[in-house]
Amino acid sequence: MSSAEAATPEVEEETAETAIDLRAEYESSGVKEVLEELDRDLIGLAPVKKRIRETAALLLVERARKRLGLAHQTPTLHMSFTGNPGTGKTTVAMKMADLLHRLGYVRKGHLVTVTRDDLVGQYIGHTAPKTKEILKKAMGGVLFIDEAYYLYRPENERDYGQEAIEILLQVMENQRDDLVVILAGYADRMDRFFESNPGFRSRIAHHIDFPDYSDDELLHIAEHMLDEQNYSLTPAAEAALKDYIEARRRQPHFANARSIRNALDRARLRQANRLFENAEGPLDAAALSAIDETDIRASRVFTGGLNGAKGGEEGGSA
Ligand SMILES: Nc1ncnc2c1ncn2[C@@H]1O[C@H](COP(=O)(O)OP(=O)(O)O)[C@@H](O)[C@H]1O
Ligand SMILES: [Mg+2]
Repeated sequence: MSSAEAATPEVEEETAETAIDLRAEYESSGVKEVLEELDRDLIGLAPVKKRIRETAALLLVERARKRLGLAHQTPTLHMSFTGNPGTGKTTVAMKMADLLHRLGYVRKGHLVTVTRDDLVGQYIGHTAPKTKEILKKAMGGVLFIDEAYYLYRPENERDYGQEAIEILLQVMENQRDDLVVILAGYADRMDRFFESNPGFRSRIAHHIDFPDYSDDELLHIAEHMLDEQNYSLTPAAEAALKDYIEARRRQPHFANARSIRNALDRARLRQANRLFENAEGPLDAAALSAIDETDIRASRVFTGGLNGAKGGEEGGSA
């Protein structure tokens, strides 16, 4: 429907481009910068990073082909990100939005994150305006639908989710040169969702799976997060955090890197209290930065208080 590009004379200045230096494009577009940031900010995730580099290469080549007048098509950029909570899906989606923006595939490059409740209304006539409102907000960027499978509730014959699905499918087809949709959620539920919704399956070209982090990766992530905030672990605290990770993984509501982030927030709180209660005389930067063993070991993860503790300090997810 939208052939917005046709109206904008983009070949005007260059009389006749005959060759394109992809390396130079890679740098001048800022794609290099985003990919380096991705590498630096996110620990592990090698397969995810590889897929994103491949996608970036495809888009760069597609853009070059277009400029040289070769047959090209607006590539289908809708994606699914599957994996357990806290594996980096939202974070990578933000980088992806930035990447698509720098390559000129979306005008603004912002990320709008929604769940079923943002799209689907409670009454007749509510859903279409709600969905359209969100789509309007997301236009020119990326719409990230978390736990997308909740849109589809076959057990409920007249579920309003279906209405949202139909609007989404239409926009994903007709406005794919200005809106990229990323569906996110658990892999198994997403598979089932795609089986029942071939319309979505056929519109999504890129499926990226986010694996759980290993204990080592989680420790590394913790160190990275602390480093960014000018905190550090004493050697004994590092050992305690290793034990913490091992124990936390087996407890309810474990959410990979998000659990680590939450644990570190609480460790900082304990550190602050420890410093405040015990402080005699001035504290130097090292003292203000050090998380020690007790800041970690005081967690309920070690006392078993977490099991079944509803809304407890370690419960839920953000
Ligand atoms: N590989 C990683 N390296 C560093 N931090 C990470 C990594 N993966 C996730 N995080 C951090 O963990 C938190 C949860 O990540 P998020 O992207 O929200 O996960 P998801 O969307 O899969 O639930 C965020 O604070 C994010 O910055
Ligand atoms: Mg998320």
